[in-house]
Amino acid sequence: MDVIRQKVRVDFEYPVYFTTGVVTPSNLLLRDVVARSADQSPSRLAVVLDQGVLDCHPHLSDQVAEYVQRHRTVLNLAAPVLIVPGGEAVKNDPRHVDDIHRVINEAGLCRHSYVVAIGGGAVLDAAGYAAATAHRGIRLIRVPTTVLAQDDSAMGVKNGINAFGKKNYLGTFAPPFAVINDASFLATLPDRHWRAGVSEAIKAALIKDRAFFDFLEQHAVALKSRDLGVMEQVIRRCAVLHLTHIASGGDPFELGSSRPLDFGHWSAHKLEQLTDHQLGHGEAVAIGIALDTTYSYLAGFLPEDDWRRIISLLPALGLSVYVPELGQHLDVENHPTSVLRGLDEFREHLGGSLTILMLRSIGAPFDVHEIRRDIMIRSITVLRDFEHAHRLREERHERHTLSEPIEPEGTGR
Ligand SMILES: NC(=O)c1ccc[n+]([C@@H]2O[C@H](COP(=O)([O-])OP(=O)(O)OC[C@H]3O[C@@H](n4cnc5c(N)ncnc54)[C@H](O)[C@@H]3O)[C@@H](O)[C@H]2O)c1
Ligand SMILES: [Zn+2]
Repeated sequence: MDVIRQKVRVDFEYPVYFTTGVVTPSNLLLRDVVARSADQSPSRLAVVLDQGVLDCHPHLSDQVAEYVQRHRTVLNLAAPVLIVPGGEAVKNDPRHVDDIHRVINEAGLCRHSYVVAIGGGAVLDAAGYAAATAHRGIRLIRVPTTVLAQDDSAMGVKNGINAFGKKNYLGTFAPPFAVINDASFLATLPDRHWRAGVSEAIKAALIKDRAFFDFLEQHAVALKSRDLGVMEQVIRRCAVLHLTHIASGGDPFELGSSRPLDFGHWSAHKLEQLTDHQLGHGEAVAIGIALDTTYSYLAGFLPEDDWRRIISLLPALGLSVYVPELGQHLDVENHPTSVLRGLDEFREHLGGSLTILMLRSIGAPFDVHEIRRDIMIRSITVLRDFEHAHRLREERHERHTLSEPIEPEGTGR
């Protein structure tokens, strides 16, 4: 036998900036991010923009062009801004990745050029995949515009699109060149997406940082009522937890089976698919967190007090813990559209043995390799009843509020 044992080490470094008004001409951050490694001058870039962001910021495309023009000694927009659909649509149809590849090709971008992706997690995933595969990797600058993308998805090293009905089936591990979190985008985010992004912060708190969980509890009302200052603190803490895990968790490219950052995700991914993506990623993660937390409690791992705190925080932030798809077809083992099928799909995705994170307490997770079907089904029933009771309470509160006497105007009282 003859063997040459090859070992390659590559260090990656990428900055994550926090700013406002990233394409305001007087904001020099984007220019300087490119200028700091300008091996060509000016540097060529292509910009991919989320249609949903453009709808709320109708001048954004022009602002990008003006920004580049103003800083033309450093930046050169090598193609018109490419608009792609926002949300899962961009990941479900491979033609959008083709479009990005086409722009990169026609603009003659090289490995020292830049793709600047502005949008939610879905657009960043698709643009990241296109950038990582053209020329085997073009520099990617992510400008995330949702809470979820700013506190979670844009921090990491993954990208991808959906295929064969499976989430993120095609993708690569490719660290970005830089990330720019611009808080001013969050003002136009629909309520639903504002809330959904907080579920990844709850996840990070549950697996890493009990004090951060306390903070989320204490600021639940402010977060739900869209306090941007509090949200910025949440995003920053969550981003730090995420980045630290990638840097020092020992498995940045997920070669092993243990995935702390995927707490609650086995069922979340399945629920996204079962609801035909009517449920967004963050919304599905909230339910996934509720499910694995309840399982942890019913299996005797997690104290009741901690379980109650977690299960109460989710609705306090406006997040549901149950949808009908969670309870469907549980009586048939291995039913293809039962959430429990998500366990098999997760096992297949990991390769090797099933590894699911459960909680011993808030901030203290551990891995299990076996899931008891009966306890999981009981957990689902508990969540169904919990959600039902919560809705009744909300309705009662609403009725109570509405039935308070309303004084007609001009009564002088
Ligand atoms: N790569 C990773 O590590 C990773 C991690 C977590 C999630 N994800 C992926 O991220 C995606 C979810 O991302 P998301 O939660 O950011 O939502 P999203 O990208 O699906 O966007 C939600 C909606 O908000 C719109 N939008 C985005 N920014 C806006 C703004 N500032 N104002 C108004 N509308 C805006 C979008 O057009 C879209 O319609 C999923 O596909 C998920 O799989 C990836
Ligand atoms: Zn996630």
